Amino acid sequence: MALLEVRNLYSGYGKLQVLFNVSLKAEEKRITVVVGPNGAGKTTLLNSITGIATIYSGEVVFDGRPITKLPRHSIARQGVACVPQMGNIFANLTVEENLRIAGYLLPENEVRERFSEIYDMFPVLNDFRHRKAGTLSGGERRMLAIGMALARKPKILLLDEITTDLAPIYVKKVLDRIVELRDNLGLPIVLVEQHAVRALQIADKAYLLVSGNVRYEGDPQELLEHPEFSKLYLGVS
Ligand SMILES: Nc1ncnc2c1ncn2[C@@H]1O[C@H](COP(=O)(O)OP(=O)(O)O)[C@@H](O)[C@H]1O
Ligand SMILES: [Mg+2]
Repeated sequence: MALLEVRNLYSGYGKLQVLFNVSLKAEEKRITVVVGPNGAGKTTLLNSITGIATIYSGEVVFDGRPITKLPRHSIARQGVACVPQMGNIFANLTVEENLRIAGYLLPENEVRERFSEIYDMFPVLNDFRHRKAGTLSGGERRMLAIGMALARKPKILLLDEITTDLAPIYVKKVLDRIVELRDNLGLPIVLVEQHAVRALQIADKAYLLVSGNVRYEGDPQELLEHPEFSKLYLGVS
């Protein structure tokens, strides 16, 4: 059974409809990748899951329970964590202070355990834990934003374009960490990416979203060879 399921979703913002009959399943211990061009509705899909966008019809089911009409904070409390496109870190606070704020709901003994897990996975955050987050490089900030989501001990992690604007070396580093999250923590991950090829290489399952519609659902390797995919992405870096 899928941990997260989106069923026949129509959603948008107020009167602006963005998604049309979108269905998606995210399984336990799997990386689900949603690719699509700019403006396709990828962020809106995540916003619909986390309670930010307006849902007109359809359903979002998490861990066997409908979360469609729940407010954002209750969805978050159920274990759905999202790293937004811009990553929202507090630039004037240190790395560790950022993690503390993110994990404030956890009991103190769990915080320590959680932090050592995060620092193991992202040694750079340990090295820089007393530095102001604003002084980190783009790649390090993404790692911190992921670390902050993990500090909440989520049951699922939603990641919005976390490799965009990163130097190629950091793209690889960040995606390698995502694979480790799946393999070491067994965490299900939904990864939304405009830069599709790299993301599809680590995916267990793939979706292609175009103009608010799902155009492909299935094997990531097959999507890489799909005519519609090459039409959209050929020559696009
Ligand atoms: N907060 C918002 N309010 C109103 N319209 C929005 C908002 N966010 C995105 N949109 C619109 O929704 C459409 C899909 O955008 P988005 O989901 O961000 O696409 P993607 O993430 O695939 O680039 C775009 O037309 C965009 O202008
Ligand atoms: Mg987006």
